[in-house]
Amino acid sequence: MKTAEQILSGEALEMFEKIAAIWPPIIRQRKKDKILLMLFLLAQARKIKKADAALVIEATRLVVPKSYDPLFHMFEDMEGFKKRMLEPFLSEAAYNKIPVKVRRWPNPRPRKKAAAKQAKTILAVCASPRARGNTDLLIDEALRGAADAGALTEKIMLHKIKMGYCIGCRKCKEPGYEKICVINDDMSQVYQKIIDADALIIGFPIYTGRECAQLSTFFDRWDGYERYMLTSCLKPGRKSMVIGTWGYPCIDTYDHVIENIISILNLHKVETVEALSACGFEGMLHGLDAERKGVIARHPKQLKKAYEAGCALACSR
Ligand SMILES: Cc1cc2nc3c(=O)[nH]c(=O)nc-3n(C[C@H](O)[C@H](O)[C@H](O)COP(=O)(O)O)c2cc1C
Repeated sequence: MKTAEQILSGEALEMFEKIAAIWPPIIRQRKKDKILLMLFLLAQARKIKKADAALVIEATRLVVPKSYDPLFHMFEDMEGFKKRMLEPFLSEAAYNKIPVKVRRWPNPRPRKKAAAKQAKTILAVCASPRARGNTDLLIDEALRGAADAGALTEKIMLHKIKMGYCIGCRKCKEPGYEKICVINDDMSQVYQKIIDADALIIGFPIYTGRECAQLSTFFDRWDGYERYMLTSCLKPGRKSMVIGTWGYPCIDTYDHVIENIISILNLHKVETVEALSACGFEGMLHGLDAERKGVIARHPKQLKKAYEAGCALACSR
């Protein structure tokens, strides 16, 4: 393969080194190799002899997750980035200007409506520790939609229950073990509620570029459902909705985290039929107003998407 010097112009080489410098030396070379390979493929496909700085950014974007957005926005327009990220801390008016957006993910699978023989039971799990925060309000709106469509609903605030970490004892994998988990805490009841539910709503905020720790702990505890010889005590058939919320005002920055949560549910044979991303909860109070209520409450058009997704979840089969 060609070297960086062979395919990069002077300014492109500078950009390449500037990007590479964000990683510590122990991983820097691996990252550089990946970006270089992508640059080489792009240059070859487009018959470009010398790549410019824009192509370096394009190649890097293709090899790192979308959560690197802030980095590229910084490199592309430092002044714009500072304005967008720092201004909301200056005054309430500037704070309230942050664009709040909700995206309901398209689902190509035709949505079949269930015959309303029996009311569906929907269990929502809010992993945000902020009651009346943005995740919580979106969940409530989805539950309102589900209830209007005839479902029986319940919500659990994860930080309010007693939930210990998985201790890795593997007792749950022993043949003949009858409980789901050795830990004696509120998860014993939650395990049963999940088993009894027809559908789940999992809502969480992004903390440090990934799902918050409450949700990670919760899913580690789901390993108790997986038994001796790869059998599971969670039968297939459950549907779910996943709601991810974050600060950075770009609606696809953490798509990969939402995809990951959908994949974890899928491992447990829970099919996600609805997904919502919501962004713009930044600034001093991370998306709360002066009464410490989620700013999403001021955006009825955005909230409506959660309501509609909730109705659809209650009707899906
Ligand atoms: C500890 C912590 C870490 C955070 N990390 C990120 C982050 O990496 N990226 C981001 O866009 N927002 C981040 N945020 C902002 C939250 O994701 C955002 O405010 C969230 O949607 C709030 O949800 P809530 O109102 O339901 O609590 C962070 C917030 C906290 C408290």
